[in-house]
Parts: sequence; C-alpha cells; structure tokens
Amino acid sequence: MTEKDFLPSEYSSSKNKGVVRWKSPSNIALIKYWGKKQHQIPANPSISFTLDSSATDTTVSYRKLDGESAGFSQAAETHGFDLFFEGELKNDFRPKIETFFKRVEKYLPFLRGYHFKIETSNSFPHSSGIASSASGMSALALCLMSMEREFVPKMDDHFFNKKASFLARLGSGSACRSIEGPLVQWGNHSYIEGSSDLYGIPYPYRIHDVFQNFQDTILLVDEGQKQVSSTVGHDLMHGHPFAELRFGQAHTHLSDFRSVLADGNLEEFIKIVESEALTLHAMMMTSHPYFILMKPNTLEIINKIWAFREASKANVCFTLDAGANVHVLYPENEKNTVYEFIKSELLQFCENGKHLCDRTGLGAKEFKT
Ligand code: DP6
Repeated sequence: MTEKDFLPSEYSSSKNKGVVRWKSPSNIALIKYWGKKQHQIPANPSISFTLDSSATDTTVSYRKLDGESAGFSQAAETHGFDLFFEGELKNDFRPKIETFFKRVEKYLPFLRGYHFKIETSNSFPHSSGIASSASGMSALALCLMSMEREFVPKMDDHFFNKKASFLARLGSGSACRSIEGPLVQWGNHSYIEGSSDLYGIPYPYRIHDVFQNFQDTILLVDEGQKQVSSTVGHDLMHGHPFAELRFGQAHTHLSDFRSVLADGNLEEFIKIVESEALTLHAMMMTSHPYFILMKPNTLEIINKIWAFREASKANVCFTLDAGANVHVLYPENEKNTVYEFIKSELLQFCENGKHLCDRTGLGAKEFKT
C-alpha cells in the first residue's frame, strides 16, 4: 500500500457529535528504531513486543462546528481541541497534538469541521520512564479512525488497523507498533512479506510458544526528565560515522530473528536483544554531541543479570530504551525464579524499589461508548 491508499474518498455520512474511546498499550523494541528520514520514515526496520498493562486510555468527544466556526477553522493556524491529562487541562501537550493534527489532516479531512475534547490518562505513573508517546499517539490515532469509520461504515478491520498504524506513525514512529500484538514489525525489509516504512504489521511468520506471555519487568532506575528527546536523538544519526553500519546491522538482526522466533532459540534471542540495546546506547555515546543515558545503577543491573544468567542458566536478558531504566525480559515458565532474583538482587538499584510487571499483549482495545 502507498500513502495515496490512505486518502479517503467522499464520506457517505456524517455525524454532529459523538464519543469514541480506545485503550492502547506501550511497546518495547527488541530491534531498535533509531534514526529517521523525512515524514517519519525509519532509517531501518524494527520489531517490538506489544505490552499488556502499560497503556494509555483516551476518550475523544467530538462536536461538529456550525457553518461560521467551520469557516473560521479552515482558515485558522491551529485545530480546535482541548486536551485533558488525568482530568486536568494540559496546555503543554498541545504543540505535540497540534503537530500530529497538521500531519494527519490530509488523510482525515473531517478534522477541521469538528471541535474535539481529548481526555487521556496512563495506567503507568507519570514520569515512570515508560514511553507514553507510543501508547498516547496510537490511542489518539485509533480514536480518529473510529470516527472515520462512522463516516465510512463499510471499512474493514484490516484497513482500519493499517491506517491507524500509519497515522500513529506520523505522531511518533514507535506508536505505529502499538496497534496490534504480540510482535509487530515496522519498516521495509526484503525478507519480510508485507513490511512497510509506512505502518507496522503483526509479525507474519511462526512465533514459538516460548514467546507467549513473555514477561517484561520494568525497573525504574531514574524517574527524571529525559536528557535527550527522541527527536534530537534520531537527528544525531544524520552524519553519524557509524550510521550506515548500524542500519545494516538492524536488517541482519531481523533476518536472523526469523529462525530465532520460529525455533524458540532463546540463546540467540538474548544475544540479539542485548546487542541491540547496547548498540542503541553506543550510537548515543558516539554521536556529536554525545550522551551517556545509562546511570551507574543501570550497569549494576546489567552485570547482575549477566552473573545470574551464567550461574542459573535462566533465559533472562535486558533491553533499554533511550534512558536509564531497564526492561528485564524472560519466558513465562521461568517467571518464579527470575522474579525472585529481581526482588532479591535488582530492586535495590531502582528508585524506591519502583518497578512495573508487564508482559506481551495483543494490542489496543476499543471501549464501545
Ligand atoms: C529508543 O518513536 O519516540 O524507543 O518518532 O521521534 O516520536 P519519534 O521517536 P520514538 O523513538 C523511539 C526510539 C526507541 C527505540 C524504539 O522504540 O524502536
């Protein structure tokens, strides 16, 4: 599919007002997206586990503007919406939503004809270090798609999900991997049928049972403000001395992942996932300007995981986002032993012992209003 396929033809019906609501999860990349081209096109393909309980719940109430206000809206610089985060009007989130609306209005031409009240909240604590842009932008994209489906009632689920992912990507790249689950791949890859730079797809090949309900315990090492925004981070890959090699490596890792996922080869899975996490941070350490986003406790945790794995032969590994927190990944059937280890040896390195227990999930859910 190309971008043109997401431009709607005439709407067959319209509605004066309504309410739509979606709960959309966050996701954790196993093969990382780091570096992008214009229009939110990734520099390399990525794949992630969709999470289950770390999610954003968004309700959008829409009201059709009367003739005069609609005319005003067409000419206005900004779109008509109010944004409430956890019950409070949040004007500091407006610019991100406004940018999103501007990017998607070509594909959702009804946007300027309505006023929106957006009410959103996260299941995870604010500033917990979980990327809320993936869950937040995907939830909003899904709400707008539910609205569009009201105008195009014959739209099928397959197209609905693709377009939701396409729109979410325009809000935040990783958000396009939060529509479905449990494993979503985004970005062109020569061996992966149906893969696209424009949207994420559910991983189309065999996935071994060992990856079902895979556990992700998120250790909150640092709840502080992000030192580097992802926009700045992606930008640092332009002219980066190792960029081309890194992009090539992501392609190779994805090719290697096919048999790893099919055979349930946890040893190779661990090697690729940890290498990806460390490469992401190595890219930041070797860009100009350079950053170290890991904290001493991040390294303590990594070393403890390595020592425990060596001693116990447990299939536990870590991955990192663009920050200091650590995602500890392990199969469901090793849950008891690994969680005991986490409690006794790793929580001491978290801020006030804070952590979140999550696992892979099946994607976003609509609440019928
Ligand atoms: C390190 O999706 O947050 O989490 O497209 O600029 O919104 P924008 O970036 P974003 O980048 C995520 C980067 C990452 C790796 C990943 O999720 O693949």
